[in-house]
Amino acid sequence: MATNRTFTMIKPDAVKAGHIGAILNQITEAGYRIVALKKTQLTKAGAEGFYAVHSERPFFGELVEFMSSGPIVAAILEKDNAVADFRTLIGATNPAEAAPGTIRAKFAKSIGENAVHGSDSDENAKIEGDYHFSGVEQF
Ligand code: RTP
Ligand code: MG
Repeated sequence: MATNRTFTMIKPDAVKAGHIGAILNQITEAGYRIVALKKTQLTKAGAEGFYAVHSERPFFGELVEFMSSGPIVAAILEKDNAVADFRTLIGATNPAEAAPGTIRAKFAKSIGENAVHGSDSDENAKIEGDYHFSGVEQF
């Protein structure tokens, strides 16, 4: 069943660079309601679990190191067509290919350190949101 929620993380590069406020502002200006929000840090095992789908990819080790290297901001977001519209809002994985004005075009440093995560399906949005937030933390 399609839902109207997606899950995001502001990644360690963007948190370190001081972009939390600007990124959350762009997200809410785009019409998303914040359902859940927290600053936290993934353990190495937590990052491995979160990105398990990429475990065979050549960049997996780098990705796990990076995602556990510093604090992140995790959030569940709500809006019509949330998953697809959020992928448009953040832009391509490689910021060099991200459309002008997208979050990655503005704030990402490289294909690996690319400022934000966005769920790729309704099913994964639910799994990823529930990974970070219990039911009583989602409003
Ligand atoms: P995300 O899951 O973080 O929203 O990113 P995405 O869907 O746009 O990209 P995905 O293919 O799911 O890759 C997950 C993350 O792995 C890192 N990556 N590094 N060095 C590389 O070639 C490479 N490719 C991907 C990025 O941090 C990417 O967001
Ligand atoms: Mg992905």
